[in-house]
Amino acid sequence: MEKKNLDWNNLSFSYIPTDYRFVAHCKNGAWDEGALITDPSCTMSECAGVIQYAQTCFEGLKAYTTKDGRIVTFRPDLNAERLISSAERLLIPPVSKEMFLHAVDEVVKANAAWVPPYGTGATLYIRPCLFGSGSVIGVAPAPEYEFRVFCTPVGPYFKGGIKPIRLLLSQYDRAAPHGTGDIKAGLNYAMSLYPGHVAKDMGYSENMYLDAATRTNVEETGGANFLFVTKDGTVVTPKSNTILPSITRRSLVYIAEHYLGLKVEERVVPFSEVKDFAECALCGTAAVISPVGAVDYDGGTLTFPSGMEKMGPVTAKLRETIVGIQEGEIEAPEGWIRTIC
Ligand code: PLP
Ligand code: COI
Repeated sequence: MEKKNLDWNNLSFSYIPTDYRFVAHCKNGAWDEGALITDPSCTMSECAGVIQYAQTCFEGLKAYTTKDGRIVTFRPDLNAERLISSAERLLIPPVSKEMFLHAVDEVVKANAAWVPPYGTGATLYIRPCLFGSGSVIGVAPAPEYEFRVFCTPVGPYFKGGIKPIRLLLSQYDRAAPHGTGDIKAGLNYAMSLYPGHVAKDMGYSENMYLDAATRTNVEETGGANFLFVTKDGTVVTPKSNTILPSITRRSLVYIAEHYLGLKVEERVVPFSEVKDFAECALCGTAAVISPVGAVDYDGGTLTFPSGMEKMGPVTAKLRETIVGIQEGEIEAPEGWIRTIC
């Protein structure tokens, strides 16, 4: 199979339509079996649940080319499970794990020419989404749904790749207590657009959000969880039931403990403690592990000892290990890698 003629080493994180996407529909609570199609547009009622009441949730995962030339995905079963929790919370009939995995496999296989080659630093970003396509005017769940999985080749989420970024401590909240912060609902991202715009306008890459209830503890950013490293090398990650349970973060916690022999603490992280950490990074499918050099807050700046030039040593080792696992250079724990072709 001949690869598409793209400048693989210089891709940004943006949408390039690829040849195929998988689409299935749900009526009366039952999903059809779905199929690959070529049309990148969705046609639906002006009164669709997704348009009127934001009844939509999604996932994000990547396909990688390994050193030995296979195309693989990383823990897609966990994305399938998370999409089921998101769907249940939004009263969307969930798609089964089997259907999710089948759709992702089919889309990746059909778009193999778009999967970036090994060693380019680029990957194929896969976006499964589930939304209310049927008409609804009173506030209620839609009568019909669409499940769509498309993909697009991407480079780094933050411009500059692994150069440390600067964050702003946001004056806004991302997720309410007992709300939807722990699911991947489109509405959470709509809520973070304005605060994200404010931060970017001021020259920051992203926001650091605090918990909405007390505004004292670190939560996450608009699209990634936090990892900190203490001065004695312990990895610390915020525990909260209003953040998204990141698959990358859960994997890094395992890698830190079982591959690198590090101590890990998953616990409440007061913002007042952030000044004491040696390293800070964002982790997620899109972000991978992106180093944070500084956080500005009303009244000051916290600069991590790892600085604005390079990634700290512990987060760099975590990054090297997870990327090595994803690209087949380091042996993965049982069940983490799904070979597609
Ligand atoms: N937090 C938010 C709000 C996200 O959107 C994402 C991205 O998916 C993450 C965290 C990271 O999650 P994962 O590692 O599963 O991609
Ligand atoms: C992902 O990492 O997959 C996400 O969905 C984050 C998004 C901000 C691109």
